Amino acid sequence: MTNSLDNLRVENDGLVCGEVGRWAETKHRLISLYDELFATGMKNKWEQRVYIDLYGGSGHSQIRGTEIRIKGSPVLALTLPCPFDKYIFCEESEPLRSALKIRGERIAPHADITYIPGSCDDKIEEILRAIPRASASNRVLSLCLVDPFDFGIKFETIRKLSSGFVDFLVLLAVGMDANRNYDHYVDGDHPKIDQALGNKDWRERWKNFSGGRK
Ligand SMILES: C[S@@+](CC[C@H](N)C(=O)[O-])C[C@H]1O[C@@H](n2cnc3c(N)ncnc32)[C@H](O)[C@@H]1O
Repeated sequence: MTNSLDNLRVENDGLVCGEVGRWAETKHRLISLYDELFATGMKNKWEQRVYIDLYGGSGHSQIRGTEIRIKGSPVLALTLPCPFDKYIFCEESEPLRSALKIRGERIAPHADITYIPGSCDDKIEEILRAIPRASASNRVLSLCLVDPFDFGIKFETIRKLSSGFVDFLVLLAVGMDANRNYDHYVDGDHPKIDQALGNKDWRERWKNFSGGRK
């Protein structure tokens, strides 16, 4: 049996792409597997399945220090055996978003894709408007990938998206951010984690849990 896991790597198509570490290959395989299970498993259960990528990237990523390029999460979702009915890609960087749009048009010219420029936190109302309206005869289920570089996600954005039926796949590769900024976040009053978790009382609970250890 062949599926989307067999073809993670791509040729250099001349367009801009971000850089990732070696570990990203495993991460992207897991994302692809989850996308495929979701899109295929829900196909006959809901009238419309929507894929939302809040931190879309450019569609391809290059593994640092190599010439290897792999599919990014939006391209993985567009090339599934049972594609989604609708795609919403948000990306803050204009060059990355432009490259993603060209790639999307090349690989899935008939896919229904809405590209949202800017920060997903600032553009959440636009993202919500792009989700097809649900009704009793048009039930809509979304899969939302949340894949920021750091603790940048704001819980309020997730909360607003949860007004409909949404399954979230949240990847927080935050070790570097957390280790570098531990004192700043835990002992300081930096609001980043407050915003990510949607509350301010996490510091006390974290200190009790960790016993003051980093
Ligand atoms: C870890 S990468 C995501 C990669 C993508 N999931 C993939 O598989 O290729 C994070 C991306 O989010 C973008 N970004 C950062 N902050 C953002 C925000 N607030 N809203 C939308 N995009 C953002 C960055 O420009 C970067 O391309």
